[in-house]
Amino acid sequence: MRIDTRIIEVNDSDSTESLREKLMPAAELIKNGGLVAFPTETVYGLGADATDPSATARIYEAKGRPSDNPLIIHIARPQDAEKYTYTGELYYRLAERFMPGPLTVVLPAKSIIPPTTRGGLPTVAVRCPSDRVASTLIELSGVPIAAPSANLSGSPSPTTAVHVISDMMGRADVIIAGADCEFGLESTIVQVDGGGVKLLRPGKITVEDIEALGIEVSVAGAVTDRLAEDEVALSPGMKYRHYAPKAPVLLLEGDRTSCAEYIRAEKCERVALICYSEDIGFYRAELPYADFYDFGGGNDRMTQAHRLFDILRSADDMNYDVIYAPLPKKDGIGLALYNRMIRAAAYKIIRL
Ligand code: TXA
Ligand code: MG
Repeated sequence: MRIDTRIIEVNDSDSTESLREKLMPAAELIKNGGLVAFPTETVYGLGADATDPSATARIYEAKGRPSDNPLIIHIARPQDAEKYTYTGELYYRLAERFMPGPLTVVLPAKSIIPPTTRGGLPTVAVRCPSDRVASTLIELSGVPIAAPSANLSGSPSPTTAVHVISDMMGRADVIIAGADCEFGLESTIVQVDGGGVKLLRPGKITVEDIEALGIEVSVAGAVTDRLAEDEVALSPGMKYRHYAPKAPVLLLEGDRTSCAEYIRAEKCERVALICYSEDIGFYRAELPYADFYDFGGGNDRMTQAHRLFDILRSADDMNYDVIYAPLPKKDGIGLALYNRMIRAAAYKIIRL
């Protein structure tokens, strides 16, 4: 069923007062069981009242998302987690350093969060976004906002207003069209695990950042490797094929001469290369028939994170036979890039 979607435009230059005024109707809608797509510092989310099972049911329907995949609840202040979860000392150590910001913490749930919001799990994931639009919307709504990424299930998370409008027009009641998301990959997710944490999804807050607080971090196997058939995903989202364009994506590891030779030998006609800026000139000379997408400098992972989903979406519209991309290294923010890119590539890595 298509619904009438209202678009509310917001700008960085809006004063606090004018932003609140613009967001008030969206907050009213959330309180009344509506669906609102909104920007955050990671990716755009599709939000509804986390305490209202019929509102969250609409999220699953709008995204075409399996209902056993739980939602993150978004709160205005880190201490609001108290109302919905059983926190603890470790939560507050993380919160003090990283919240508001792109970190999600999985904690034991209180019963005010209905099982439908948490995919039937005994836990719930909480996140306190730093983005001004997101935090104003949550505060004005007065309820925790359950929000997955605002993409249709199976396409890359939206990082621009254009992406959200393309996926959610006719599906959400309101789309808040703001700036491009600052980071561009989804939040880091950790689960409190004894005295330490387990990393379920890598993001801008890195393993190294958390370890610097003296907290031990173990990395869930599914972050870097495909789950075995009989393995239970700690984070249900890990078991779904994610972020994958229609064209096959191949990740190449090797020097650029070997990569160019490999690509030429494959003899595909419609070829796209996602390239580090400094390599584009070389590849263009070697493979003049290919299309090129500038991924940012090889060492500039912030730019790579910012561009990845937009590049995958643009390339997806072009009906390529194949999309080649470099295999990222796994340290720092590289781990988040690696995690998203091996999924986009359905784990196909060519080592040369
Ligand atoms: O950056 C983000 O986190 C964005 C913005 C909108 O905040 N949200 C987002 O939500 O990425 P989503 O639903 O696309 O991804 C949430 C992931 C899923 O893989 C889900 O399985 C996992 O979090 N998750 C949610 N609740 C969980 C829980 N209780 N235990 C383990 N994993 C959980
Ligand atoms: Mg998602």
